Amino acid sequence: MDISEELKGYKKQEDILNETLLRLTTKAPVAIDWEEYHRTRTVWVPSEDVARYFSKQPPGLVLEVGCGQGLNVELLNGMGFDAYGIDSSYTAINKAASEKCLLEDLYSVKGSYKHDYVLDMECLTYLDEKAIDRVNRLLCVGGKLFSRWFVETSLSVGVFTSFYDRLSYLKKTFRKVRILEKLYRELNGDRDHVREIIFEAIK
Ligand SMILES: C[S@@+](CC[C@H](N)C(=O)[O-])C[C@H]1O[C@@H](n2cnc3c(N)ncnc32)[C@H](O)[C@@H]1O
Repeated sequence: MDISEELKGYKKQEDILNETLLRLTTKAPVAIDWEEYHRTRTVWVPSEDVARYFSKQPPGLVLEVGCGQGLNVELLNGMGFDAYGIDSSYTAINKAASEKCLLEDLYSVKGSYKHDYVLDMECLTYLDEKAIDRVNRLLCVGGKLFSRWFVETSLSVGVFTSFYDRLSYLKKTFRKVRILEKLYRELNGDRDHVREIIFEAIK
C-alpha cells in the first residue's frame, strides 16, 4: 500500500481515539484561549442563522453574550433592533465592529436590563449551568434566547458541553425549549452527523 494512504488510515484512528477521549472528559467546560482565538482570526461575516431568525421577530432589546468581534450586533442594529454585545475577550472587543460591544464577563454583568432577546452563538456551550441562570435573569418574561450549541466533540473547537447534556437544565430553566435546526457535517464518512443545534428557549 502507498505509504501516504497508510498514514491517512493511521491518522483517522488517532482522531477517533482523541475524539472519544475528549467526549469522555466533556462534563466540565474548559475554556479555550479566546484572546489567542481572536488575535489570529478576524470575523468578516455575521451569521446567516441570526439574520434568518431575527427577520421573523418583532424589534426589541437584544444582548449577544460572547459577541466576539461584534458582526451580529452590527447586523441586528442595521435590522432595526437595539442590540448590544458583551464579551470577556479584550482582543475581541478591541477589534469589534460596533461600539455597542462591551468588555464584560457574563458571570459578572449586572442584570438590570430585561432584554427581549439574548443571542448566543457558541458561547454558552463552553460555559456551565450558572451561565444559563445568568442569561435567564437578563431576559424579560416571554423573552427569547436564540442559541447555537455544539453537539459532537471536535478537536478544532475545544472542549464544550453537548447540547444534549445540557438539555434537561435548559428545560428546567425555561418555559419552552424548541429545536429550530440541526447542522450536519461529515465525520469519518458518516454524512448524517449532527454537529450543531440551533434552538430557541422562551422564559
Ligand atoms: C465561539 S466564540 C463566538 C463569537 C461570536 N458570537 C461569533 O459568532 O463570531 C465564543 C465567544 O464567547 C466569549 N466568551 C467566553 N466566555 C465568556 C464569558 N464568561 N463572558 C463573556 N464572553 C465569553 C469568547 O471570548 C468568544 O468571543
